[in-house]
Amino acid sequence: MSEKKKVVVVAGTRPEVIKMSSVYMELKNSETLEPVFLSTGQHREMLAQAFGAFDLAPDHDLRLMQPGQDLTGLTARVLQAVGDYLKEHQPAAVLVQGDTTSVLASAMAAFYQGIPVGHVEAGLRTYNMYSPWPEEMNRRLVSPLCRWHFLPTETSQSNLLSERIPADACHVTGNTVIDSLLWMRGKVNSEEDRTKGVAERLKVPDSFRTNFLEEVGKRWILVTAHRRESHGGGFDDICHALRGLVEAHPDVGILYPVHLNPAVRKPVMEQLGDNERIALVEPAGYEDFVWLMNRCYFALSDSGGVQEEAPSLGKPVLVMRETTERPEGVVAGTCLLIGTNPERILAEAKVLLEDANEYQRRSQLKNPYGDGKAAERIRTVLESDL
Ligand code: UD1
Ligand code: UDP
Repeated sequence: MSEKKKVVVVAGTRPEVIKMSSVYMELKNSETLEPVFLSTGQHREMLAQAFGAFDLAPDHDLRLMQPGQDLTGLTARVLQAVGDYLKEHQPAAVLVQGDTTSVLASAMAAFYQGIPVGHVEAGLRTYNMYSPWPEEMNRRLVSPLCRWHFLPTETSQSNLLSERIPADACHVTGNTVIDSLLWMRGKVNSEEDRTKGVAERLKVPDSFRTNFLEEVGKRWILVTAHRRESHGGGFDDICHALRGLVEAHPDVGILYPVHLNPAVRKPVMEQLGDNERIALVEPAGYEDFVWLMNRCYFALSDSGGVQEEAPSLGKPVLVMRETTERPEGVVAGTCLLIGTNPERILAEAKVLLEDANEYQRRSQLKNPYGDGKAAERIRTVLESDL
């Protein structure tokens, strides 16, 4: 049999690993293709943690993260290092996922080497170049560089068709995050209770652990926030809202795994570190995070991935952003776009906490992001084209 064709699967940050693991595992089953996981190392600890959750490790790690890195320096380092890697290894194709700096610079590096690129989770748009920043532009600039566009929904397909991307290069597959989530949910559900392990690994304070995690029926909200366009004033607003939320609802807690970016950690720790009902904890491994999404009352988040995942676990999401490139969740009603204004956050949280019928309605809506077979569809396209 002839040698399998190498497909380089690039990941630089936590969400890319989570959303590419299902693709990598699926390509491992191919009779004609051989995946190679290339880490740019844009993230370090959070990347290792995400790989670990899937019992995977990168085949090659460029280890490019620098503390407090800026966009220009990071882009230049990824472009050069991925370019050197591709020049030496000359794979048959490169796959990138999403909208990070690693994605844009890797797609450019592949293009310069004349290697075809596939974009997983293509076609998401706000058409506001500053929101999300810089992700909207990263995702848009990648599109014309690619041979394959793997689209999560029909909406993302219409976006690309309106930008004159050829129809035969567009493949609606669903979002690979649902494949990864279902896989991880199966793993987590088959195990014994995780409460003790989660509390220890995330360093959840004892009082929060006994009052909320171990107390059946106690309601707590899962929070994540890290977006660059919220750094500064947006984070002050978010912190103000979270404090107001627990003050207004004396029986409710907040659990917030804090992103490692110092521009996030500093304001959050300074402004919320002293409240007994707000647990500021370490970033969670994906298996623990899936468990947390399953246990929380609802999610309050600016994360792209959480907007797609939490509704599959029956949890409404309040999205702390002014725009979203994921309108499908908003249309379906699983996600509500509320920005970072504290009054709005408090008002919308109050609805979910106090209106049981509305909570039930929103937690039972169908998730529009996929059926768990996206990676299989991607494999099929690549096998027929390569
Ligand atoms: C990046 C992506 C963003 C994505 C997010 C996922 C860009 C421009 N931003 O944002 O789209 O939603 O990842 O989480 O590509 N750090 C660590 N250890 C880690 C990870 C980060 O210490 O494992 C710290 C470092 O000081 C690093 C900083 O966080 O310099 C920022 O990391 P970076 O990847 O540039 O930005 P994120 O805000 O994580
Ligand atoms: N996630 C995780 N641990 C955490 C927070 C998030 O594993 O402490 C997962 C989450 O389930 C989702 C992904 O990481 O799959 C989202 O990553 P992030 O919010 O960093 O980036 P975004 O999705 O906004 O690009």
